[in-house]
Amino acid sequence: MIETDFILKAYSLEKNTKGSITWKTPSNIALVKYWGKQEPQIPENASISFTLDACFTLTTLEYSKSKSTQGGSFEVYFEGEKKDDFKPKIQQFFERIEQYVPFLNYFDFVIKSRNSFPHSSGIASSASGMSALALCVMSIEKALNPEMTDEYFNKKASFLARLGSGSACRSIEGELIVWGKHNKIKESSNLFGVKFPYKIHNNFKNYHDTILLVDEGEKQVSSTVGHKLMHNHPFAKQRFKQANDNISKISEVLKNGDLKQFIEIVESEALSLHAMMMTSNPYFILMKPNTLKIINKIWEFRTKTKSKICFTLDAGANVHVLFPEHEKEQVNNFIINELIQFCQEKHYICDRIGFGAKQLSNI
Ligand code: DP6
Repeated sequence: MIETDFILKAYSLEKNTKGSITWKTPSNIALVKYWGKQEPQIPENASISFTLDACFTLTTLEYSKSKSTQGGSFEVYFEGEKKDDFKPKIQQFFERIEQYVPFLNYFDFVIKSRNSFPHSSGIASSASGMSALALCVMSIEKALNPEMTDEYFNKKASFLARLGSGSACRSIEGELIVWGKHNKIKESSNLFGVKFPYKIHNNFKNYHDTILLVDEGEKQVSSTVGHKLMHNHPFAKQRFKQANDNISKISEVLKNGDLKQFIEIVESEALSLHAMMMTSNPYFILMKPNTLKIINKIWEFRTKTKSKICFTLDAGANVHVLFPEHEKEQVNNFIINELIQFCQEKHYICDRIGFGAKQLSNI
């Protein structure tokens, strides 16, 4: 207890040991995929993602000075309901980050979270959820250390988020985030995401991502298990090289606006990701028949109309349909008339490239 008081005093927080903080944090969709990692959450290759806008998590972290001498406790509520089954993942996150945020153990927390997208939609909520929690923790650190710069705040938030879920480190800022050391992106790091450092071509301004919910169930194989299967994977080395080469190529494309090449890289990345799943030991398939029907329809439409529509996939059956702003009317009609018939209960989400997390309430 003496130690607790000392630490809180040292941080001059003794008057302010109860409060709450809320962050709204987006999901993201990778264009070049992260699939394969080493301890502690170090990616085998660099990845790059569009930050999303409409798919987000809203998290409030309530904190109070802990009465226990054994370190802090926490409760989790998701969409108003107490969720003990979410605790192990958050416990593991707290254990991984406590050495970087040692004040954590001196508080009790109540975490209240909800998503803008249906929980069972098959959209990964770990990126937005873990980054929201990391940002809340950073807000406490900022209260303890008000001199902290925004740059340091974002970098450390991304660093902590990575320890919760790799892709979460790409959900702090927008519009395009690179994670993983790469020689074409000088500032890049394996430890946190950085903003794509070059001017993005106007073709990618307001880029759309309509997510077709083909299968709203729980995934049969989690990403964490999928990453592990890249150890001893027969094609691992080639895959990591392919992804790193694709980062070089897409960096040029994002600068010069070449949508034809953009399509080739993004679709190849999506199919390579799923090819890794199909060729691991044990192998598995996350695409569903309707995933393939949608892909074929997109290819037909592109041949017929010369549209620059393309698709990408997460570790699941849902299809992300990407297209430029100036095609939105034509492509929206196509989606409504020809694609949503393949979605579960015709469910889909209209999203677009976003600008990163927002703090909704301060300490
Ligand atoms: C296919 O970030 O969910 O979406 O680090 O184990 O939490 P963990 O995995 P996670 O993996 C995401 C994999 C992916 C590709 C990507 O987002 O880059």
